[in-house]
Amino acid sequence: MKMKTIKVGRNDPCPCGSGLKHKKCCLGKSDTGIEDLEASYFRKYNIRLKKAADIDGIRMAGRLVLDTLDLVESKIKPGITTDDLNTLAHEFTIKNGATPAPLNYRGFPKSICVSINEVICHGIPGNRVIKDGDIVNVDVTSILNGFYADANKTFFAGNPGPDARKIVVIARECLRRGMATVKPGNTIGDIGWNIQTYAEAQGCSVVREFVGHGVGFGFHEAPQIPHFGHKGAGIGLIPGMVFTIEPMINLGQKDLRILDDKWTAVTKDGRLSAQFEQTVLVTENGAESLTPYE
Ligand code: MF3
Ligand code: CO
Ligand code: CO
Repeated sequence: MKMKTIKVGRNDPCPCGSGLKHKKCCLGKSDTGIEDLEASYFRKYNIRLKKAADIDGIRMAGRLVLDTLDLVESKIKPGITTDDLNTLAHEFTIKNGATPAPLNYRGFPKSICVSINEVICHGIPGNRVIKDGDIVNVDVTSILNGFYADANKTFFAGNPGPDARKIVVIARECLRRGMATVKPGNTIGDIGWNIQTYAEAQGCSVVREFVGHGVGFGFHEAPQIPHFGHKGAGIGLIPGMVFTIEPMINLGQKDLRILDDKWTAVTKDGRLSAQFEQTVLVTENGAESLTPYE
């Protein structure tokens, strides 16, 4: 999702949704110690924690997302167009009683995102023909029984060169390290710090403009999950939080530009970018992926 920076003025509506002015509501309010964590995470951060039945629903949507990614993977080869992959995923999603979340989302015209080579994310399926050696990211978000799950992977078409292999291996490891950070007691900043530290040590860079996000009841919920940041910073992780981790890792510089279609994000330097994404639940002991792979 697009990185948003919210600045709330004293006289603006309170972000907690009360309808009161910020200064008459949460501004400067300290914890009473009476309010439970669930209420305070909602009031302070607009985070909606998930209960067992919600988690079961998201897990079922997640199963479908993974099956869709497997189906698309089986068809990725030089000569096929990105729109062919979209049609396949769209029909499979509908056949399974679900809805593709991207379709018509803020004007997005297709059912999945397909992002090739220098495309960082939000590639719109169309006439582009996949070539030998391309890296192809496929991002699937499905709504099943009202629950959203979101995952993506970067695949090889034909025989990848050394740069393609390198960026895909590093991006996958960035997601793995991010997920390994998820447990109560750690913070959102710890996730980003671990990802950024590793990516930069490999000589790669982390995209700043797009971040992971809460998910489950909606497509993009609070909180935002940056893939960069500082150890110990940000909101503490507590059981029942469900969010994506989806690092976009560039072989060259982190800078991007958006094409005239208003969606496609590409690296400014034209070098490769890769991404992996899963939907993760914070548990009492650590984390459980609701879109588990690898
Ligand atoms: N699935 C993407 C994500 O990981 C969002 C795609 S928005 C769309 O957050 F409109 F391009 F589909
Ligand atoms: Co996402
Ligand atoms: Co996604």
